[in-house]
Amino acid sequence: MKHLLQISDLSCHDVEQLLERALFFKHSMDVPIYKKHTVAHLFYENSTRTRVSFELAAKNLSMNVVNLDVHTSAEQKGEVIEDTIKTLASMGVSMVVIRHQQDKLPLALAKSIQDEVHIINAGDGRHAHPSQALLDIMTILAHKPRLDRLKIAIVGDVYHSRVANSFQALCSLLGVGELVMVAPKIWQPKTVLFGQVSDSLKEGLKDADVVMCLRVQRERLSQLEHIDETFYRTHFAITAQSLSHARPDAIVMHPGPINRGIEIDDVMADGAQSVIRQQVSHGVYMRMAILESLCQ
Ligand code: CP
Repeated sequence: MKHLLQISDLSCHDVEQLLERALFFKHSMDVPIYKKHTVAHLFYENSTRTRVSFELAAKNLSMNVVNLDVHTSAEQKGEVIEDTIKTLASMGVSMVVIRHQQDKLPLALAKSIQDEVHIINAGDGRHAHPSQALLDIMTILAHKPRLDRLKIAIVGDVYHSRVANSFQALCSLLGVGELVMVAPKIWQPKTVLFGQVSDSLKEGLKDADVVMCLRVQRERLSQLEHIDETFYRTHFAITAQSLSHARPDAIVMHPGPINRGIEIDDVMADGAQSVIRQQVSHGVYMRMAILESLCQ
């Protein structure tokens, strides 16, 4: 792997290797040392989980880490992002983890910067969040090893969700049995890569093995895309009542951050079926596997 930009660039073999290494890191104290590598984090959008877990992953692998504060960097004086990255490369940075509001910017950067650094997409606009999809599949496999027999339901604002996009691509690649995306009409995807779309939470959750709840992303909604929160809660929230349609052993996931009491109730987010905290833990191991794969 040269970069990690989007799931569609990966083969099944790539994903299997990443899962294998992430599991190794989860269970082993014998972690290799990659002292020669320096990772820079460029986060133009807010983040807790992705930024910190990439940092911890790099440190666990003995890499150097630079957290560039993009709000005080030379970009505020007019430097373009390509020059910022080339400047970092001149100082020995070999990997750049980037989160940006612009769809597909990491792909454009990987093209323009060529071989100078490895680009890792940590979320670009509505387009992709590949490391999230990989840690999500790792979490599902920890509970439900037969992906081909699963029904997975994604619930919420699928239209604006880079998490849902990358997850669809990964489900398609790995041959997930059934994927249903449940969303109010206005938040349904315009194009579907894999799975079906429904506006019925009851139908979508019926016999589901995995329920992935998405955040209501207020910051991405145009004026015409806002939905009354009471309506949303009534028809689309993950509650004890709505989850009763899924299988009794269904796991509940959420990429975070959570809007408690809006898309999901506390009792579901923190309950026995929730694997949300495990998703976060797996994020560190999967990001170790991603960083290591770019050192080869
Ligand atoms: N899931 C996710 O990307 O969370 P952060 O925005 O906190 O990184």
